[in-house]
Amino acid sequence: MGKALWCCLVFACLLIPLAVADWNILKQQTHDGLKISLKNYCESWRMNVELHNIREFQVVPEECIEYIGKYVKSTQYKVDSQRATDECLVYLSTSCNLKKDGLDAWIFDVDDTLLSTVPYYKNNLYGGKKLNVTSLEEWMSKGNAPALDHSLKLYNELKSRGVQIILVTARKEHLRSVTIDNLVKVGYYGWTKIVFRDPADELISVQQYKTDVRRQIVNYGYRIWGILGDQYSSIEGTPSPKRAFKLPNPMYYVA
Ligand SMILES: *[C@@H]1O[C@H](CO)[C@@H](O)[C@H](O)[C@H]1NC(C)=O
Repeated sequence: MGKALWCCLVFACLLIPLAVADWNILKQQTHDGLKISLKNYCESWRMNVELHNIREFQVVPEECIEYIGKYVKSTQYKVDSQRATDECLVYLSTSCNLKKDGLDAWIFDVDDTLLSTVPYYKNNLYGGKKLNVTSLEEWMSKGNAPALDHSLKLYNELKSRGVQIILVTARKEHLRSVTIDNLVKVGYYGWTKIVFRDPADELISVQQYKTDVRRQIVNYGYRIWGILGDQYSSIEGTPSPKRAFKLPNPMYYVA
């Protein structure tokens, strides 16, 4: 046999298992006769995460790691985020009768709402690897998370309209000072209140913790006009805000 033929054989042996693996993933999706690509499959997975049809996922499906990585680095992710913050501004201008008595309030999440954790997840398969809290907190402690630009614009706009800004984060108390330094470094300052999880709050779900904080805020007399967050656990439950806006985040799920 010629050298070229050998090369072809070796090449085919290497490629066939890959092709079969891919085809198996897709075959599962074509039981109703619909032919779909891997991109169709992963786009649909991402969309259904955002629609809150897919919940409590532990990791991004292996076959979609590449797709999700591309998405969170893409212009589309920026455009999707900007649309969300633009809609906050539309709502603010058309539907909020601000009293300007120091009790108009807006709540923000921190991670993947004000600060981006994409640089961390980039080294962890964009959520395709099970979360290691220790290494995430080590990364957070460095205080190098970049701002999400459109969130910073909304933040400053709310501030200029005299809305009290309240940050409610699932980060723990021991990360308080590094988080504050990080926020200030990238341009966030002048908030009214920032709330971290204390050890007792770590025993309850994030959603329970965040609704407990909202209850206190309402009891102080604040009107919560809106929340911007990237997780349903930040915006669901009572007391509810008048409106809630969700930013895209297909990398992880917090219950
Ligand atoms: C989690 O991260 C820490 C710190 O980087 C590391 O020491 C530890 O081995 C990791 N644990 C697992 C299960 O990978």
